[in-house]
Amino acid sequence: MKIKFLGHACFYVEEGDFKALIDPFMTNNPKASATTDEFNDLTHIFVTHGHSDHIGDTISIAKNTNATVITNHEISKYLGAKNVHVHAMHIGGRAKFDFGTVKMTPAHHGSGIETESGIIYGGNPCGFVIEVNGKKLYHAGDTGLTMDMQLLQVENIHVALVPIGGNFTMDVEDAVRAVEFIKPQKVVPIHYGTFPVIETSPEAFKDKVNTAEVIILKPDETLDF
Ligand code: NI
Ligand code: MN
Repeated sequence: MKIKFLGHACFYVEEGDFKALIDPFMTNNPKASATTDEFNDLTHIFVTHGHSDHIGDTISIAKNTNATVITNHEISKYLGAKNVHVHAMHIGGRAKFDFGTVKMTPAHHGSGIETESGIIYGGNPCGFVIEVNGKKLYHAGDTGLTMDMQLLQVENIHVALVPIGGNFTMDVEDAVRAVEFIKPQKVVPIHYGTFPVIETSPEAFKDKVNTAEVIILKPDETLDF
């Protein structure tokens, strides 16, 4: 599986015919390393919650590529009404796809969809455990530290993507504890440095994590596992 960090919480994921984006926030993302027109043969888009720095460019990219958006029920209804292909899931559910399996995991956060006419209810925020060809990736979404993360140990996650920026999500200290709960082989810090309010040190995170290999990706860098 190849994952490419596109800035903030956005990743491109590829394994065989499976070509996906997670939280495709490119327009107005100061750390974006890609533009929406670079993606024309996607199969899937994953959306962890309704906030604009995660739902981002989902509608335009999904319409351009015909990719299926995997997200919670409420956001699926919102996107489906805009003629986007969707697959609705919800917290705790695992689904089989032609590429592998997806489990939707809890996140402690909000999920309102910000529109010009106000905020639309976006259900519960989530994370995803995505398994393709035996490779397991966990994107935590935006979340605070939660005891529920201990349940992820049994998943034997190869790579975990966890927020460390604080203010809206876990900070470095809490993200270190999250890694101890999740027990992934490798961990990539995300959701920091995009805006002044989530400025933090990924090197401090790397120094404090003893239970997994920390890989700091700059936007546009890739990790193969
Ligand atoms: Ni958020
Ligand atoms: Mn966010």
